[in-house]
Amino acid sequence: MKLHIAVLPGDGIGPEVIAQGVKALKAIAMEFGHVFTFEYGLVGGTAIDAVGNPLPESTLELCKKADTILFGAIGDPKYNMDPDSKIRPEQGLLNLRKSLDLFANIRPVIAYEDLLNKSSLKKKFIKDADFVIYRELTGGIYFGDKIISEDGNYASDSCGYHRFEIERIAHLAFKAAQSRKHKLTLVDKANVLESSRLWRKVLMELAPQYPDVNLDFLFIDNAAKQLVMNPKQFDVILTENMFGDILSEEASVIVGSVGLLASASIGPKYAMFEPIHGAYSKATDKGIANPIASILSAAMLLDHFALFEEAALIRKAIDKSIKLHITTPDLNMKYDNISTSKVGDFIEDFINNPEETNLN
Ligand code: IPM
Repeated sequence: MKLHIAVLPGDGIGPEVIAQGVKALKAIAMEFGHVFTFEYGLVGGTAIDAVGNPLPESTLELCKKADTILFGAIGDPKYNMDPDSKIRPEQGLLNLRKSLDLFANIRPVIAYEDLLNKSSLKKKFIKDADFVIYRELTGGIYFGDKIISEDGNYASDSCGYHRFEIERIAHLAFKAAQSRKHKLTLVDKANVLESSRLWRKVLMELAPQYPDVNLDFLFIDNAAKQLVMNPKQFDVILTENMFGDILSEEASVIVGSVGLLASASIGPKYAMFEPIHGAYSKATDKGIANPIASILSAAMLLDHFALFEEAALIRKAIDKSIKLHITTPDLNMKYDNISTSKVGDFIEDFINNPEETNLN
């Protein structure tokens, strides 16, 4: 298969981790005879620094003409302490999601057997946890009207949803449940929010189309608790934009590191693959950033193009790296000097030669 891939490294550790994702894809192309080409674009704080715009027109064009997009990370702490700044790195990612209509963000969470003791949660509660979060990505409070009063003493962000925005991701989530454990949980705040009540109503209306899916509902406050108390109860979680952001970050506690969680952002025409973690600027260029989320994002990209055998080989390589403790320091395993690129090299070697790879 020929794939032209837009690569957007972004900020902080983005360039280091995405380099490992690209390395894995190159190894897969070589092994399976595919032709993958990569074209790089600026986004986020690095794009602001270079051209004054977190999503330059050239980057958007690149994404539109490519077959798909691999994304690194975004954010720069210098903007966090400047609430008056009108321009922020995150706008690059948010504009990209909106411009490309990437409305469904799919975030799988699977507890690795070999990492159960890396979680701060008790082993018996997280063992076999395996669920996926369907997070709505182009609506809600992230994209509602933003108001700041003239005197600067009042500010608001509004959270609104149209029926069609709920329906399109709900269908995807129901279908995902059908191919998994047949359970779908809508997380909302329907006891307080009008927008949540619309979500509930739409989901209840669609449910008869999916009689083999067991639909239930949880308020976000309860869901936040259930997620760490008994994550095994979940199969597919569907939720709106901000709740999904928070819940998926919380879910990283189950797997032991946020550096292990990847995501796919899907729309009618385009698809982008990105780790759920941020730019982790403090770690930039130290070689300590975990590249697994980026490499797993590459595996999700392959799945998207139905290259299932290829994606499975990447996941097997990751499993092996964890088994052999070839992991970055966030996981605090046997060796403390395994760098970001060393993990990537191991995975590349494994893909090239699955039978023989060991730590060298
Ligand atoms: C994520 C991130 C982004 C979000 C930020 C960087 C804008 O936290 O992808 O989860 O809030 O969506």
